[in-house]
Parts: sequence; C-alpha cells; structure tokens
Amino acid sequence: MENKIKLLVTGASGQLGSELKHLAANYPDFEFLFTDVAELDITKPGQAEKFVAENPVSFIINCAAYTAVDKAEEDHDKAFLINAIAVDYLIDAARMSDATLIHVSTDYVFDGTKNSPYHEEDVAIPESAYGQTKYEGENLIMYSDIPAIIIRTSWLYSTFGNNFVKTMLRLGTEKEAINVVYDQVGTPTYARNLAQAILEIVSKISVKPIKTREIYHYTNEGVTSWYDFASEIFRHRSLSCKVHPIDTSKYPTPAKRPAFSVLSKDKIKREFNLSIPHWVDSLHQMLRDLDEK
Ligand SMILES: NC(=O)c1ccc[n+]([C@@H]2O[C@H](COP(=O)([O-])OP(=O)(O)OC[C@H]3O[C@@H](n4cnc5c(N)ncnc54)[C@H](OP(=O)(O)O)[C@@H]3O)[C@@H](O)[C@H]2O)c1
Repeated sequence: MENKIKLLVTGASGQLGSELKHLAANYPDFEFLFTDVAELDITKPGQAEKFVAENPVSFIINCAAYTAVDKAEEDHDKAFLINAIAVDYLIDAARMSDATLIHVSTDYVFDGTKNSPYHEEDVAIPESAYGQTKYEGENLIMYSDIPAIIIRTSWLYSTFGNNFVKTMLRLGTEKEAINVVYDQVGTPTYARNLAQAILEIVSKISVKPIKTREIYHYTNEGVTSWYDFASEIFRHRSLSCKVHPIDTSKYPTPAKRPAFSVLSKDKIKREFNLSIPHWVDSLHQMLRDLDEK
C-alpha cells in the first residue's frame, strides 16, 4: 500500500475519466483519486493545491474540460476558465506536489488546411473558441516549469456519456434516413484506448521520470469522415437507416471545425512503444462493450 503510485484524476465523471475508472482495477500498483467538480472544482483558485496538500500525488491526469464545442462560441469566458485558467491552477498543484501533469487537448487546435497528418510541431491555428481555449491551456503548460505531457486526441467516444456513436445508435432506430457531413476528415478515438495509453505512459514515466514538457498526438489508427463513421456504425448494427453524405456548408454550426484533422501518432508510438488499434476495430469493440454494460 505504501509504495503505490498516487494519481489524481480530475473530471473523472466524463468520457475519458470514466474509462480510466473502468481500467483502474488492472493497475494494482496505482492508487487513484477520482474527482469531478463536486470533489474538486478545478476552476476554484487554490482548490487543487489544497487537494494535493492533503493528498500528495505523483501524477495529475486532467480529464476535466469544457467540451461543448458549439456552446463555447457564446460561452467563451466559461470555456476559457475551465480549459485555460484552471490549467494554471493545476500547474501550481503539480509543482507543489512534485507531480507530473498529464493533460488532454484536441485536434481542434489546428485549422485543418493540411492534407497530410498533423505533427506535434505543426503550427496551431485554432478556428473555434473551444480550440482557442484548449490551445491557451496547452501554452500555459508549455511555458511552465513542471514536468508535463499534453496528449492531443480527436473525435472521442466512449461507452460512458454522450457522443457521436450513441447519437447515431439512437437516430439509427428513430429515423429512416439522416444526413451526415462527408467533407470533415479525421480519426475517431475510443476513449478506453486513450485511457489505456495514458496508464501505460504513466507506468513508464514512473520508472523513468521526465523533467520537461512534451506534446504528443494519440488517436486510433486510420482515417475516415463523419459520414463513413456513421455508415460503419449502422452497417455493424444492421440498422437500415440510410446515411446521406452532405457538405459542411449544408450543415452550418456555430463553431468552425477543421476539414482535415488527421494526427500523426509516430512520436507517441516511438517514445512509449505503443501499439494503437484501427478505428474500425475499436468501434466494433466499443459496440460490444456497450452491449455488455
Ligand atoms: N469529446 C471529444 O470529442 C474530444 C475530442 C478531442 C479532445 N477532447 C479532450 O479530451 C478530454 C476529455 O474529454 P471528454 O470527452 O472525456 O470530456 P467530458 O466527457 O466532457 O468530461 C469532462 C468532465 O469534466 C468535468 N468538469 C467540467 N468542469 C469542471 C470543473 N470546473 N472541475 C472539475 N471537473 C469539471 C465535466 O463535468 P460536467 O459534465 O458536469 O460539466 C465532465 O465530467 C478533454 O480535455 C477534451 O477537451 C475531447
């Protein structure tokens, strides 16, 4: 018990946090302190520092975020508070506890004008309020003095919470046909795979600590569009609902999304020797996991 590695997880009732909870039992050497806004509101100055003063930890995994991409356009201040200012409070808490911060960011920091996978050092030009606030959170970490890892991911879905897969499963039984955009290209990511990758990285860092800050990209393997993603969900579930491909211009949203946001995983695979499942295999796995819940 004494030698267990202590990890604080913030925002633990969200998709990624819930997947970490689900995997926790597989990591007997770790002692997890799962918190969400009721136990630790990361936006309250001094709260994270107070928490780690009472419960010293070696890692802080920040799964808390403002993730309502369209709502963020009119609710910029709240998104900025959770996605940026609160990250500064977590940096202070990590420094106080001598902890490594593992932070999660997004493909929406890119403008999507490339047509080959984005690398970590590519210039970030966020085009939405959500992407901008997440980028500001990244920068606070990168210009800090604590050991930290930022993992950018994309198109996250899970057996927990609401997401595209669950929306499609509902619409697929309610409707005869739906329209889905085909001109936004990226990679879906099963949050359980990302949670597993984070815990593998923490295991490796706890043996060989890091001293600086690095950005990594993690998504499932492969490339698809939202249209093809929806089609595969319906095909696998034998849902007869038709999917019509439409242009983004026919489906206007308050927040602009990148047209192309495929992320290169070369760096994270090389550094941590990870093997990453293909998005189709992970989708099928998630649908099986959903059936077993
Ligand atoms: N979802 C995606 O498609 C996607 C794509 C790329 C990157 N990401 C990033 O991946 C990470 C995990 O995303 P996710 O989908 O798991 O998010 P999520 O399901 O929205 O979970 C976020 C959690 O943070 C909590 N939270 C909000 N404000 C908080 C506060 N002040 N203090 C403590 N907790 C707070 C939320 O509680 P409430 O629900 O009560 O607000 C929620 O439980 C985030 O950093 C996100 O930006 C997500």
